[in-house]
Amino acid sequence: MVNVERPNPSELAARLRELPAAHPLVYRLGDQPGLFLVGGAVRDLLLGGRPFDLDLVVEGDPAIVLARLDGTAIVYDRFGTSTVSVDGFTYDVARARTETYRAPGALPEVTPASLDEDLRRRDFTVNAIALPLRSGSAGGLPAVPGALEDLDARRLRVLHDRSFIDDPTRLLRLARYRARLGFEIEDHTLALAREAVAQDALKTLSGPRIGNELRLLAREHDPVGAFAALRELGLDRSIDPRFGLQDDAVATEALALLPVDGNRDRLVLAVAGERLPADELRRLLDQLGFEAEDREGIVAAAKRAPGVADELAAARAPSQVATAALGLAPEVVALAGALGPADAAKQWLERLRHVELEIDGRDLLAAGIEQGPAVGFGLRAALVAKLDGRVHSRQEELAVALEAARGAG
Ligand code: CTP
Repeated sequence: MVNVERPNPSELAARLRELPAAHPLVYRLGDQPGLFLVGGAVRDLLLGGRPFDLDLVVEGDPAIVLARLDGTAIVYDRFGTSTVSVDGFTYDVARARTETYRAPGALPEVTPASLDEDLRRRDFTVNAIALPLRSGSAGGLPAVPGALEDLDARRLRVLHDRSFIDDPTRLLRLARYRARLGFEIEDHTLALAREAVAQDALKTLSGPRIGNELRLLAREHDPVGAFAALRELGLDRSIDPRFGLQDDAVATEALALLPVDGNRDRLVLAVAGERLPADELRRLLDQLGFEAEDREGIVAAAKRAPGVADELAAARAPSQVATAALGLAPEVVALAGALGPADAAKQWLERLRHVELEIDGRDLLAAGIEQGPAVGFGLRAALVAKLDGRVHSRQEELAVALEAARGAG
């Protein structure tokens, strides 16, 4: 471990104190020795960001830290790894530890250790920098060798040659950081990653662990960039030869069309799964541990979008757009739009899907229509008229509905 002299830890501590999420920590634990902020939060602070998720490492027993934090703690294991909620913020607290991997891809065995060793077990140098929480701590920042230089050079580097074999989730994390931070992958690290992919390292992971990483990739601010990084590393093909984004522009356009109530991860995964037949995509998503609702949403978007695109392209009136899109999830329509009929998809997603009648079945019954199919027929006729801009009031809706219902009766 080296203590790099720059940047000045007290300056970094000042940046930390400005974060709302750090207030409870500084207030309750600002004088606690052996307590460090670690991982992505330190990296992002150094990059000038304002991290929200703060991870803490304690040298020794974390019980005192948990007691002093005095929040609601969920303790996961005998090493005191826990999640603590205080004043609306949540922190991960862990005892400094080493990890050994009994087999490639297996969950590690954990032994208490020093901060130095804890930093050395990590994925990339830029994630292996610590910031002492105790104010006025002397010296530089504890970090693995080269960490700050790599951060300066915007470079992703593993800490040792077995890193991807021991824990192949790091291959997927590499793609995620590559896209999110825009960092280069250092040459030797890239060679190790390619070697691990060629050896099918992902196959040593359980499906749900891969699925979890894919979900994180899909939730990135720029999921298309994240999936492009997967492709660059050959990781998508390693999951299934037909899995992965082929046309980034389609995914970008579909995301642009998706309204805020749409599900971005499902949409991205649908574009990535487009080339698999429905039953195989369903099976793959099952293996990857996706819940039924997610799985069916992804399959529906992937498989129905081309047909819906044809119907939307053929629609000549808003009511025909509605006939093509009614009842479909926004992800299906957004992807359909990205395959061609963008204007029709946009019209549906932004406006038409919100159009509702002012009247309902009771109005028709009150006007003497008998209960039965005529009621539905009348309401549909009124909706078509409203969508196409032919009626503008409750009275006009009712008139169209009654005429159609009587004609049907
Ligand atoms: N880590 C690791 N290997 C993994 C997962 C995590 O070494 N397979 C280490 C990294 O040092 C990482 C830290 O554990 O920084 C916490 O992991 P995680 O919570 O996933 O990432 P963060 O650092 O909190 O956040 P970000 O995703 O922003 O990097």
